[in-house]
Amino acid sequence: LALTFLVPGVVAKPIKVGFAQTGAESAWRTANTQSMKSEAEKRGIELKFADGQGKQENQIRAIRSFIAQRVDAIVLAPIVETGWDPVLREAKRAGIPVVLTDRTIQTADESLYACFIGSDFYEEGRMAADWLAKKTGGKGSIVELQGTPGSAPANERRRAFADALTKHPGLKIIDSQSGDFRRSGGKEVMEAFLKKHGRAITVVYAHNDDMALGAVQAIQEAGRKPGTDIIIVSIDAIKEAIQAVVDGKINCTVECNPLFGPKVYDTVTKL
Ligand code: AHR
Repeated sequence: LALTFLVPGVVAKPIKVGFAQTGAESAWRTANTQSMKSEAEKRGIELKFADGQGKQENQIRAIRSFIAQRVDAIVLAPIVETGWDPVLREAKRAGIPVVLTDRTIQTADESLYACFIGSDFYEEGRMAADWLAKKTGGKGSIVELQGTPGSAPANERRRAFADALTKHPGLKIIDSQSGDFRRSGGKEVMEAFLKKHGRAITVVYAHNDDMALGAVQAIQEAGRKPGTDIIIVSIDAIKEAIQAVVDGKINCTVECNPLFGPKVYDTVTKL
């Protein structure tokens, strides 16, 4: 039950939120941006949206501009984990709460942000590895397509997968490189892996679906069958990847839900 109290002569001002998004690198990201924008509109929240275009310095500039505009709260999806303390200190001095969403940061001062709303990337990597161990009976030569270097999902998904593989000595990562969470990056890196390792590759572990779909293309262009000749396990569960699972081109995708809008604005409103 929602109650609104109207005081005569007082007009309720909409909440003003600044959202510093990482960029538009993947379909997951597009869905996340859409959730943040549509939910703000639904709730009458004034949203100031800044696309960081994959660069931390753009996100830092956006946060400074939100502070100058005296927003009520700042929401940050940090592209990388480190280097946020100075700008978050500026927000704290201005009395503006910061909510981290999607990705976490590394800081010795946890008072610099109010809370984190996002997924457990480590658990996703662990689930991908456990599924692979069952599927392969613990044997395989894996190439890994990493996400953006220094980002929480790339760090955690990599660490979890490597930790889980210690229980399966027959599963080995033979090469690992960043495709920056982009389809084009996944395709380029996979082409290079295929040239370098040829038929030795039996598994692709992609840190997201866009890179997995890029790898599917590279494998097909090399005249091999993705999902059959090479097993592909990935993370996100975007619509196109689920279709690829149905079509037998990707073997498994672990869900990472991007729809954080409602939770983020519930929290911002409380703050
Ligand atoms: O931080 C979440 C990750 O970033 C998603 O897995 C990926 O698709 C996105 O770009």
